[in-house]
Amino acid sequence: MSQINLEKAIGHQEADFPVAWLKRDLLLYAVGIGAKATDQTLVNDKDWAPFPTYPVVLQFKGEDQDINDFRKRVGGSTAPGLPKFDPNRGVHGTQSIEILKPIPEVSGPGWKLKKRIVGVSENKSGIVVEAETLLVDAHGTVYAKLYGSSFNLGAKATGTKFAKRIAGPPPAKDIPKDRAPDHVVRDRTSPEQAAVYRLSGDYNALHIDPKIGQATGFGGVILHGLSTFGFAARAVLSAVGGGRPDSLRYFAVRFSSPVKPGDALETSIWEIGPGPIGTVEVAFVMKNLDSGKVCLSHGVAFVKKVEKSKL
Ligand SMILES: *[C@@H]1O[C@H](CO)[C@@H](O)[C@H](O)[C@H]1NC(C)=O
Repeated sequence: MSQINLEKAIGHQEADFPVAWLKRDLLLYAVGIGAKATDQTLVNDKDWAPFPTYPVVLQFKGEDQDINDFRKRVGGSTAPGLPKFDPNRGVHGTQSIEILKPIPEVSGPGWKLKKRIVGVSENKSGIVVEAETLLVDAHGTVYAKLYGSSFNLGAKATGTKFAKRIAGPPPAKDIPKDRAPDHVVRDRTSPEQAAVYRLSGDYNALHIDPKIGQATGFGGVILHGLSTFGFAARAVLSAVGGGRPDSLRYFAVRFSSPVKPGDALETSIWEIGPGPIGTVEVAFVMKNLDSGKVCLSHGVAFVKKVEKSKL
């Protein structure tokens, strides 16, 4: 066993993780993030496009068609220097995705995720590990770049404050305090939302077995954070991107409180100025109307704006 030294983990490249998907997986994902029967460009495979945030599920799905063993999937990093983490006390802190190229409807062979650790920090409550993940095809072309962090509650290396980071997503800008949002999108998750979303590859029992959520203090099943992430992406796409899947270039959130299947969600969206390469930068926050709490904060998106047709 290597010695615990958080510094040593930074820059560590994990083994390549093979991934694959079919058109059916993309349609199933769309329903998992709340697409309705009326969202024809998402659920009808005629005149449609894959929803752009799909790559976030691949870290769980891998190339499996059938269900997988969640505990093996999140078996932790092989990075040197990290202490052993308790998988039951890891929570998803942040997630971002930069879409570099639209993904094909069927992956075909040879796709993989290339993941490296880009940041580690420790404080009194635990250890945060941040990773950068690239989705690449068989020729090495990069389609998406993701940053995600997990907060390992109660984990300890030295017990003293530590933070180091060699790469990361652009920081979120503050929500304008002096004006109402440009768009407000209301939506509701269904009681079956987690049962459907898990079929995209995240089979963590916390999202299907009410007993686990009760034991963990959530009072029952909670929805996958990445399903809520997808609800917010749909909201931003419909409000700013004219509902066009190819309009979304970057999307990021911080997970701040749980959502239960059936909860109603409200996304407040501000267009705050020009973003990179002809996009509009968007700041957003999502509130869970049932708990009354913000469930996604620090929202950032870069969207190619599509003006609504005036006809
Ligand atoms: C430790 O870091 C986490 C994640 O950034 C944060 O949520 C938490 O409030 C911090 N705790 C303390 C005691 O600073």
